[in-house]
Amino acid sequence: MAPELRFVLCGSVDDGKSTLIGRILSDCGQVFSDQMERVEEDSRRYGTRGGAADLALLVDGLRDEREQGITIDVAYRAFETPRRRFIAADAPGHEQYTRNMATGASTADLAVVLVDARKGILPQTARHTRIASMFGVRDVVLAVNKMDAAGWNREAFEAIVGAYRRLTDDAGLPEALAIPVSALSGDNVTRRSEAAPWYAGPTLLSHLETVDIRPTEADRPFRMPVQYVNRPGPDFRGYCGRVAAGAVSPGDRVLVMPSGVETRVESIVAWRGERERAERGDSVTLTLAPGVDVSRGDVVCDAENPLEVADRFRARILWMGDEPMGAGRRCLLKMHSREVGATVTRIRHGVDVSDGSARAAARLERNDLAVVDLATDRPVPFAPFDRCRGLGGFILIDRATGATVGAGTISFAPARAANLEWQEFDVTRDVRAELKRQRARCLWLTGLPASGKTTIANLLERRLVAAGRHTYVLDGDNVRHGLNRDLGFTATDRFENIRRVAEVARLMVDAGLIAIVSFISPFRSERRFARGLFEPGDFSEIFVDAPVEVCARRDPKGLYAKAARGEIRNFTGVDSPYELPARPDLRLDTEALSAEECVDLVMERLG
Ligand code: ADX
Repeated sequence: MAPELRFVLCGSVDDGKSTLIGRILSDCGQVFSDQMERVEEDSRRYGTRGGAADLALLVDGLRDEREQGITIDVAYRAFETPRRRFIAADAPGHEQYTRNMATGASTADLAVVLVDARKGILPQTARHTRIASMFGVRDVVLAVNKMDAAGWNREAFEAIVGAYRRLTDDAGLPEALAIPVSALSGDNVTRRSEAAPWYAGPTLLSHLETVDIRPTEADRPFRMPVQYVNRPGPDFRGYCGRVAAGAVSPGDRVLVMPSGVETRVESIVAWRGERERAERGDSVTLTLAPGVDVSRGDVVCDAENPLEVADRFRARILWMGDEPMGAGRRCLLKMHSREVGATVTRIRHGVDVSDGSARAAARLERNDLAVVDLATDRPVPFAPFDRCRGLGGFILIDRATGATVGAGTISFAPARAANLEWQEFDVTRDVRAELKRQRARCLWLTGLPASGKTTIANLLERRLVAAGRHTYVLDGDNVRHGLNRDLGFTATDRFENIRRVAEVARLMVDAGLIAIVSFISPFRSERRFARGLFEPGDFSEIFVDAPVEVCARRDPKGLYAKAARGEIRNFTGVDSPYELPARPDLRLDTEALSAEECVDLVMERLG
């Protein structure tokens, strides 16, 4: 059976969400359990209360809401077909319930976005899609509902699909599979429709049954936040939690963060007895070698790959408070099972829900999205949300009322350690750039191997220098000879590769230079990270585009050939993905244009 799929249903009021979920449940003929049974099952798995329901063990996002005493209406429904088990989160579609949708998304792998064929994409569709992406949903299905009422009109369907594609691109999501359905009759929901012979794809249910969900956290280093310390008697002390990333076995050396104390896993206890291994998603109790002090909110992690600890963060937030929020606002911040005082030190910019663009924002109103800087009163162990949902998501709680007023995701920690302050110097970046008579910026070239990045970077730098500009090219191959010589080509190493080079480019821009970065940078999340280090307008993502077949034919270093023979692993374009830029600032079609012409375009853009 395929692994359990958690999905969130999104849609505006009256788009037919309840009908759709009702249709699926009744056609599957087995409404197994509801939210409460889910809790009971978790309680059994943890085995801490003799099998009795432990409300504190509700799914993470929801649990936080519950503890804050908010009546929140997200229905979690569990059901099962012969091929897969599902947990569906269903939140009301009204705008005032946007936060419920965020709660549902925060534990979902996939979003089913429902639109009414007669109404098309609504503002709420855009908002939900962006929030789903922000809270870690990586896959979307677009269910165009009420197709019967729209006469199964193919053109209407295609128009909605086209409009929705722009939205997923903007939100950094892969293209959604679009399915014309009628929730009312069940057409293309649970059984193929004869009314739409032009649609050749799967039904909604069969797609959900077979879609491949591979959480990125699976092959990352081990991390488990401690949710509960179990001490039934003097002889047993176990640390209960859900593995957020990686896997662990007895004997593994681990660190307890934030203290950094090293110890060893002695045993893994689960509902059915001791285990030899626990992996991402498993709820277990760990026992550790004696002599360490671990409390709720600590994180146990792989000793070779320690978790970051910080008290300054760049984050994306969804503001949910009834009162508007401005910089300086104090809150309680709750991340995994740790709670700490926090201040929003700066609202960097708001995010437009319809197209994702940055806009100035001095205050945030309810349901606004924004990028902010946060400072916590004490250091917190964390991981960027893109790399680990379980350790990078948080909620903000109003100190006075105890209400949840925000939810967010950590992008990165600008200063790694506590006790560091940002030092201001009198000679500023503007002074340095002025002296060079130029505008400092970062030109980030991304593209497949052999797409032409190095050639274009070289020509571009020559042109800029001829025009009297001060530049530097950071090139993947070159930087990997020095600064990044310790890194390989796994997803984790590539992210670190990009993190370092983005930081270096930022220093160069601070030094007043035009930094040309020429790295494959295959993942959207890492390019987004890089962009986030710069002031808006200082960073241009330039997509050096050529189809993979063309790159493989050019193959100046013979690497595609080697990868095809299996001599290189994780080669981008062969057995490692290249995620197309959704919205590059500039796209250079190197198949149609010469390198000179590409550089002309860049120069034109620079003005
Ligand atoms: S990135 O993906 O981490 O951004 P980067 O641009 O630094 O890649 O390095 C890419 C260069 O490393 C390529 O130009 C190629 O010469 C070399 N290389 C060696 N192995 C690989 C691989 N498995 N995948 C991609 N490039 C590789």
